[in-house]
Amino acid sequence: MQEDKKIISGFSKLGKRGKLKWIVENFFKDPEAVTKELISYWHGNAEQQDVLDGFSENTISNFPMPFGVAPNFIINGKTYCIPMVIEESSVVAAASAAAKYWMKRGGFKAEILGKTKIGQIHFEWKGDFEKLNRVFHKNKPHLLENVQHIITNMEKRGGGIKDMELIDMTDKEPNYYQLKVKFETCDSMGANFINSVLETFASLFPSLFEKEKEFSAEEKNVNVIMAILSNYTPNNIVRAYVECPIDNLGMFDKNMDAETFAYKFHKAIRIATIDPSRATTHNKGIFNGVDAVVIATGNDFRAVEACGHTYASRDGQYRSLSSCTIENGIFKFWLDLPFAVGTVGGLTKLHPIAKRSIELLGNPSAEELMMVIGVAGLAQNFAALRSLVTSGIQKGHMKMHLHNMLITLKANNEEIQKATSFFTEKAVSFNAVRDFLDSERGIASKISLSDR
Ligand code: MEV
Repeated sequence: MQEDKKIISGFSKLGKRGKLKWIVENFFKDPEAVTKELISYWHGNAEQQDVLDGFSENTISNFPMPFGVAPNFIINGKTYCIPMVIEESSVVAAASAAAKYWMKRGGFKAEILGKTKIGQIHFEWKGDFEKLNRVFHKNKPHLLENVQHIITNMEKRGGGIKDMELIDMTDKEPNYYQLKVKFETCDSMGANFINSVLETFASLFPSLFEKEKEFSAEEKNVNVIMAILSNYTPNNIVRAYVECPIDNLGMFDKNMDAETFAYKFHKAIRIATIDPSRATTHNKGIFNGVDAVVIATGNDFRAVEACGHTYASRDGQYRSLSSCTIENGIFKFWLDLPFAVGTVGGLTKLHPIAKRSIELLGNPSAEELMMVIGVAGLAQNFAALRSLVTSGIQKGHMKMHLHNMLITLKANNEEIQKATSFFTEKAVSFNAVRDFLDSERGIASKISLSDR
């Protein structure tokens, strides 16, 4: 059999340059150029590069993303400039536009509706649930005693273990039970804390079951399958909202009046509530804002997304995460979003830019950060729906897209200005932009030739 050059053993043992060398030689047509390019993204400061490399494994370079800010957000009367890391054009501009719009209408409001997270120990056991429950309650102090060293600090900050409950899952899976533990983790996201507690509990199970006098020989056996936090935190949840009299909504694109806008906006939410196809895109727009702040602050966007989508399907159908009412002449628009983020621990203080993002937000508590993130999601959703029910999304998108195309085609400032005004009312496509530049450049070179 011919040797497959793309397979290697001991890759992780190679140094960074060794890894890069092997990668470029085996996967790229122009190893020298690719090496140069990837090395050009290494941090100029070796110490900072070590910090970044420490976040992951097998690193060969850094992957830059734009770090933007959306100013003018008023949340609960306080002004924020929100950091956003996102690769999609228009998102930061849309957030800023929504911030400005609502600034004139009382700003955004946000509140925490709950702050408990859960973790689970999944195990198999054969016996009577009542007996299991009795034994569990008898041994609860012993379990808690054994995690005291983990929870003391968290308790000092007002968090810790808030409740523990055995759940009989045998109607869904034979002999399957859960120990469900409720936690409060203050300003940390809590994953390490929760998992450490759960794994300690789980490690105690075999001896605890073995020693239990009430149990028969068969009941002394327990099979722990796994112990892990749940990223679904429906009781760790923020509500972000805006409201104002319909008349204050103002006039919209294409001369749409406030009442027509409110009607169409409300209908758009209704459609996303009843149709999963639309709900997916609708919620994606919310996560444009949410993820951008979650990433900028060094938090786990996969956990936040997973939680949000589960919550969106909590009644069995995937639905809009945001809601809208028009009652007694008042337009109210809100987003309830559960998720777990932190402002201490994890990357929040390790990642140099995440640390600055948190500083930019005024070193908020985790709850305050949740409010900012919820508002970013709501603002994004408002901006998307406002475009969709008025001028359509392409107008704004294409403006940014045009800029990206112009940069790709190496347009200078003068060309960018001319193209921007030329394409104000014209359809933007890569070919059209290239043709425009070709003709501009043709004109320019004719002028410079005739100047000689
Ligand atoms: C694009 O990233 C997001 C939107 O599609 C969201 C929406 O349709 O509501 C504009």
